[in-house]
Formats: sequence, C-alpha cells, structure tokens
Amino acid sequence: MASLLIVGALIIIRAVSATPTVSHRTHGYCKQLDIPLPVTAETAVYDIPRVDNDIEAAAWAIYDATRTTAHGPQNIIKNTTTSGTFNIHAQLCIPNGAQKHKNNTLQIATHGVHYDSRYWDSTYRPEKHSYVEASLKAGYSILTYDRLGVGESDHPDAYDVVQAPLELEILRQLTLMARNGTLYDFASHAAPSDAAFSQLEVPHKVVHIGHSFGSFLTSAFIARYGPLTDGAIITGYLFTDQLASAGSTSFSVEYAATGSPPFNRSSGYVVCQRDGIQNIFFGGNPKTAFTPELLNYGISIKQPVPIGEFASAFSLLGNPGPSFKAPVQFFLPEFDFYICRGDCRGLANMTALNETYPHATAIEVALQPNTGHALPLHNNATAGFNVMFDFFARHGL
Ligand SMILES: *[C@@H]1O[C@H](CO)[C@@H](O)[C@H](O)[C@H]1NC(C)=O
Ligand SMILES: *[C@@H]1O[C@H](CO)[C@@H](O)[C@H](O)[C@H]1NC(C)=O
Ligand SMILES: *[C@@H]1O[C@H](CO)[C@@H](O)[C@H](O)[C@H]1NC(C)=O
Ligand SMILES: *[C@@H]1O[C@H](CO)[C@@H](O)[C@H](O)[C@H]1NC(C)=O
Ligand SMILES: *[C@@H]1O[C@H](CO)[C@@H](O)[C@H](O)[C@H]1NC(C)=O
Ligand SMILES: *[C@@H]1O[C@H](CO)[C@@H](O)[C@H](O)[C@H]1NC(C)=O
Ligand SMILES: *[C@@H]1O[C@H](CO)[C@@H](O)[C@H](O)[C@H]1NC(C)=O
Repeated sequence: MASLLIVGALIIIRAVSATPTVSHRTHGYCKQLDIPLPVTAETAVYDIPRVDNDIEAAAWAIYDATRTTAHGPQNIIKNTTTSGTFNIHAQLCIPNGAQKHKNNTLQIATHGVHYDSRYWDSTYRPEKHSYVEASLKAGYSILTYDRLGVGESDHPDAYDVVQAPLELEILRQLTLMARNGTLYDFASHAAPSDAAFSQLEVPHKVVHIGHSFGSFLTSAFIARYGPLTDGAIITGYLFTDQLASAGSTSFSVEYAATGSPPFNRSSGYVVCQRDGIQNIFFGGNPKTAFTPELLNYGISIKQPVPIGEFASAFSLLGNPGPSFKAPVQFFLPEFDFYICRGDCRGLANMTALNETYPHATAIEVALQPNTGHALPLHNNATAGFNVMFDFFARHGL
C-alpha cells in the first residue's frame, strides 16, 4: 500500500522595504538590490552564553572580555557546515559619464559591526561625510552591502549561522559575481528598470575596502583569495596586541529585541547603547574632531550584532597572504579606541605586514589625524577620503 504524504509548504514572506530603489546623485546613480546568494561554509557550535535580555547581554560582554575566555577553536563544541541561500541587501552606485574612471574600477565595501552599509553613505551632510558620494565624484563605482545579520539582509540564528567563514564566503561570491558580469547583469534586470543601469560594462578592476570587522573580512579575503582582488584599503583595523584590548564591555550593549529603539531580532543579537557608540566610534579632540550632530547621526544608524560573529572572528585574524599580488593601504584613525586602544601612532609594524603579504606590490600605512574609529563621521572625513583615492590612483586603480 502506497501512502500519500502531504508535506505542508512553508512560505516565508519577507518584509520588503518600500524605499525607492534608484536614486540619482550629484555624481552618479545608485540602485538598491536584494541579491539571493547561495553560500556554503564551515561553521561551528560555540560554547557561548545565550542572550535573551539586558542582564544577559551585559553578562555576555563581561564573559567575552574575561581574561580566561577562549576565542578560538578550543571554544568549539561541534564543527558544522552551513549551506543556504540568503538575501543580501546591497546598493550599486555608478558614476555618471563625465566622472567615469578610465579603468572602470568597482569598489566592494564591507562595513563593520554595530553598523550596516549606511556607514559608507551618510545621509547627514553627504557632500562631506558619504564615502559613496566621494567615490562617485572621484569616478569609482561602489558596491556596498549589509552583511548577513544586519540591516535589510537576512537575520538568521545569532549563535550558529552568522559566523565569520560564512560572511567571508558571501564576500567571495559577491566578488565572483562582480568579476564575471553577473552582478551588473542582476542590477540591470532588477526592478525598476533605469537607463543608467541598462548598459553596464563589466568592471576592469575590482578593489576591496573594509571598515573594522569589515576589514577583518577584507584582509582575510585578500590573504586567502589574492587573485580575486586588484587592490585593497583596510580602514580601522590593524592586527596587533592592542586589537580589541578595550574589550566588549566598552560596547555597552543591551538586548536588541527590547533595546532603545527595539530591533526585530531573535535571541543572541545585542546592540550598543549611546555611550557604547561614542566609546567605539568617536575619538580625537571632542571640540574639533566631530560635532554633536555627527555623534547623534552615528547613534541613529546603529545596528545589532549577533554574538556568534565574535566567537568566530578569530578565523579571520593573521591569515598569511602569499597569493596577494596587488597594493594595499592600511588607513587608520589616529585615535582609534577599539583597534589601537585609543592611539594608533607607531603601532604598524612594516616587517610584520611585509611577512603577511610578501608579494604585495605595495604596502602603505596612513594615519588620519584627530579622528576616531568611524572615519566618515568626523569633521575631516573628506580629506581622508582623498588620501584613499590618491592611493588607488597612484596604483593605476
Ligand atoms: C573543529 O575544527 C577545528 C579546525 O579544524 C579543530 O581544531 C577542532 O578541534 C574541531 N573541534 C571539534 C570539537 O571537533
Ligand atoms: C558568476 O559567479 C557566480 C558566483 O560565483 C556564479 O553563481 C555564476 O554561475 C557565475 N556565472 C558565470 C556566467 O560564470
Ligand atoms: C521580524 O522578523 C521576522 C523574521 O525575520 C519576520 O518574519 C517578521 O516579518 C518581522 N516582523 C516585522 C514587523 O518586520
Ligand atoms: C617592506 O617591503 C618593502 C617592499 O618590498 C620594502 O621596501 C620595505 O623596506 C619593507 N619594510 C620592512 C620594514 O621590512
Ligand atoms: C615587528 O614584526 C616582526 C616580525 O613579526 C617582529 O620580529 C618584530 O619584533 C616586530 N617589531 C616590534 C617592534 O614589535
Ligand atoms: C585632515 O586630513 C588630512 C588628510 O589625512 C591631513 O593632511 C590634514 O592634516 C587633516 N587636517 C586636520 C585639521 O587634522
Ligand atoms: C589603468 O590600468 C593600467 C594598467 O593597470 C594602468 O597602467 C593605468 O595607469 C590605469 N589608468 C588609470 C587612469 O588609473
């Protein structure tokens, strides 16, 4: 006797943002994309506490900052493989004809923790503080995206799914799509149709830029997949003994689901309070480095973080990069609290960087004066952007 099994189909309806999906900027055009990205990566079940309320959020931060807490493979209960198709929300911006750079260079920008892709594209005085606007003005195309677990991308399980190796794979797949033309093809077909995106030529050069945790990812990406990049800028990150020495308690986290404001997130997502955003992201002389408006804007765009990301971050650190044969610039805020414990001067070790990327065509370190971790949200941001574009230009990018 054959029995008939009727399996109920589970239909998940995603809340789709109602924002317009093409914007015309002073120096180009931007299109919002929702890219269904299939990825597979080695992940793990970590021995970390659960976080379901504010007390547990603060307790997690203390746990994470505790002297004897393991941050490495010794903290793994079980190795796993995660496979899935995740929605990655992205924004592709292209310069208008007049600005267009000869080498049709595309930047792929990866933001850090506590923020989403809006980090790169400030709507507060964009002409001074949006890295996206500055890139278009300098003739570059730029892809910004919300990392998994953040912004308008999917927010899967905070413990076992949103982990560093999966995010590295997302960056790799986005890069492959950019290089083989499928990204621009996707952008041209995504609604609404717009003439600016209909005839895009595949980028000749693809470069990578990261900030903070996005720089953990970018530096690991160029180390492991050197041939997939034509150059990189690593902002707000340097691998030294000082990295994260201020500890996760400095984030001043609360439970994201009941935070102020509350976020639609599940167990294990935490979010900075006001003082945490200032601790981590703002630095330099408070009278001259940034304004109260910039700090308030920085607080208004904060995002929750899944704690599995911190448990798995170790896999991105110190990866040797013999296959990287391109130029790299480390662009550091002078007074970066979380990365340099408040003072980046003299911390870069050129010998160590040369050993990490032995075949790099150039390794440069630049310090942005009187600035904290969130480089675009300080008064002198535009001058800093120009140091980065100058680096690209000097290296034919
Ligand atoms: C998980 O994999 C890592 C890296 O291969 C290994 O060091 C660790 O011992 C494994 N842990 C378990 C519990 O299997
Ligand atoms: C381009 O790369 C993407 C991402 O790896 C892949 O899914 C796709 O099949 C590739 N397309 C072509 C035409 O090579
Ligand atoms: C909250 O998130 C869940 C899971 O991602 C989703 O199904 C639900 O629609 C969201 N609710 C709102 C109000 O956005
Ligand atoms: C690093 O490498 C560059 C290029 O090979 C070289 O000019 C420089 O002297 C090296 N610096 C150190 C400190 O090893
Ligand atoms: C710089 O790095 C090299 C190579 O890793 C190491 O031998 C040296 O001690 C470091 N210098 C300082 C001042 O830490
Ligand atoms: C602004 O940044 C530029 C580029 O790093 C730097 O040359 C200049 O000294 C900075 N100005 C101030 C007032 O800090
Ligand atoms: C374009 O790339 C070539 C080859 O890498 C380089 O020589 C040239 O300087 C680049 N052009 C610009 C405008 O950067």
